[in-house]
Amino acid sequence: MQITSFKQYEEDYKKSVENPEQFWGEVAQNFQWRKPWFKVLSWNFNEPNIKWFEGAKLNITENCLDRHLATNGDKPAIIWEPNNPEEESVTYTYKMLHERVCRFANVLKRNGAKKGDRICIYMPMVPELAIAVLACARIGAVHSVIFGGFSAKSIADRINDSQCKVVITADGSYRGNKQIPLKDVIDDALIGCPTVEKCIVLTHIRTPVSMLKGRDVWWEDEVKHVNDTCEAEEMDAEDMLFILYTSGSTGKPKGVVHTCGGYMVYAGYTFSNVFNYKPGEVYFCTADIGWITGHSYIVYGPLSQGATSVLFEGIPTYPTPSRFWDIIEKHKVNTLYTAPTAIRSLMSYGDEPLNGKDLSSIRVLGSVGEPINEEAWHWFDEKIGHGKAPIVDTWWQTETGGIMISPIATVTPTKPSFATLPLPGIQPILVDENGNEIEGNGVMGNLCIKFPWPGMLRTTYGDHERCKQTYFSTYENLYFTGDGCLRDEDGYYRITGRVDDVLNVSGHRIGTAEVENAINMHAGVVESAVVGYPHDVKGQGIYAFVIYPEMHGEAELSKKDILQTVTRVIGAIAKPDKILFVSGLPKTRSGKIMRRILRKIAEGDTTNLGDTSTLLDPGVVEEIIAATKTL
Ligand code: WT7
Repeated sequence: MQITSFKQYEEDYKKSVENPEQFWGEVAQNFQWRKPWFKVLSWNFNEPNIKWFEGAKLNITENCLDRHLATNGDKPAIIWEPNNPEEESVTYTYKMLHERVCRFANVLKRNGAKKGDRICIYMPMVPELAIAVLACARIGAVHSVIFGGFSAKSIADRINDSQCKVVITADGSYRGNKQIPLKDVIDDALIGCPTVEKCIVLTHIRTPVSMLKGRDVWWEDEVKHVNDTCEAEEMDAEDMLFILYTSGSTGKPKGVVHTCGGYMVYAGYTFSNVFNYKPGEVYFCTADIGWITGHSYIVYGPLSQGATSVLFEGIPTYPTPSRFWDIIEKHKVNTLYTAPTAIRSLMSYGDEPLNGKDLSSIRVLGSVGEPINEEAWHWFDEKIGHGKAPIVDTWWQTETGGIMISPIATVTPTKPSFATLPLPGIQPILVDENGNEIEGNGVMGNLCIKFPWPGMLRTTYGDHERCKQTYFSTYENLYFTGDGCLRDEDGYYRITGRVDDVLNVSGHRIGTAEVENAINMHAGVVESAVVGYPHDVKGQGIYAFVIYPEMHGEAELSKKDILQTVTRVIGAIAKPDKILFVSGLPKTRSGKIMRRILRKIAEGDTTNLGDTSTLLDPGVVEEIIAATKTL
């Protein structure tokens, strides 16, 4: 299944387009199935209705755990590196991980969870998080992992949207020198979550927590009551594996649904190929399991391939900005997969943190989450890869389940700031506003995918129509990514960023409408408009224009009040970087906010605002520009 030459890439690509069912059928043979499929693919993008490996039965955890036991049981599956470097790191072999997963799967059963139930996971980056995820998959329960930075309200909305029955959390988490009281946040959330019957709490930082009789149980106590034998539930290829909430252009995040068979094949195939993973190597993805990158490339992809995956609890700058380099040296990491925002942040400390660090184990580097600028690409290449490690700039999305456009390490060429070529099975096309295909090279357009791939989303939880509207209705018979894209003279793809109202802040996806809703919940705020602007480290920053006529005291304090509200409603990750109080917003006569103008102002480019004659009140623009001078 691993591509070893450019020629083979070309051949595989051709085959995957001409005969996709044969191509993916062969790839799928590399996985373990209880029962084979009778049809590789049936699909239409109108409803949409997409089925891969129809009729096949499997359990993804047998692919990630059981099948490695006979030959690789003593091989490290997960190496956990704690937040505090003084603390010992912990290695889980495949045997140990299998044992823990089975045991915890029995805990879930003991607490009433069964196949098809939704389970919310809100945990720190500890091995138990991976164990919880896999234990859900073991019993056929659907996990919905929520990133540790979301607020109680965000959690409650997500729990209620998918009617979760069980919550798995921890007392708290460490992030650098901070402690975050996760169970406290969950307690606030659960006040408004009538479907939750049980909450399983892992002791991690041993901070005092409230434990509600009948609902809350300790992880450590529960595991004592069960054994470590747990037969994997037989799942249909198209049974739901997980839900992951992500932001779009409306105020309400949607639950992207992935299913068992196709997702497994796609995560495993792309992991093995893109990173050119070789048995015995140590692979380190710095993402959080709360995002899709962690699902596909810390847990499912690597484990399905019997790889050794490093799971890091902390942050790149704690206790010093040498932390990643220390981890690479300590665990002899061969592949580092991280985000441009982390690279830019570490770059800003200069070369000093790299002095004396042995990075010679590095063979492959990866980037994900947002466009990587050339300066960061070259720094990564020279300082971390010493010019010898290919950088795979991997473009994909929560909805795609796995990497779509990317170099294949050591096999296909790289090019600074380009995601380069589509992986086998992926058929990207560029379209203009009207959905006409833009052919040839040296062109730009909106990026769409015209043929299904096994890892694609199947629906948005509880609202199939929304899935259809968001992804399959903008252009007929195409999956619309929401990204703008350039195809250069060589046919290489460069993602230029979102063309919708979705922001990418430090690789975190946030909808402008979500932030606006949160700001508008602040007492006294009349209206707001949120846009992104270029930010040196975060990629994009959040700029909020707010109408707040009767602010409460000083403007600076009032801004802080609003930040508190946003933190309460969404979480600290959505806090605007800049707030500008204005008396009006530029609107068309029909009342639509002209974001184009606000974006220009936020970028600091007020020389060419384009046509403002259609504005209801053109004077408001001058006023806003004048106000920016006070920031
Ligand atoms: C959006 C998806 C995929 C895992 C992390 C983010 C942007 C992602 C790249 C890249 C340029 C990228 C796109 C995409 N994006 N990777 N290599 N180059 N842009 O997943 O939260 O679903 O966000 O991230 O704009 O649409 P996500």
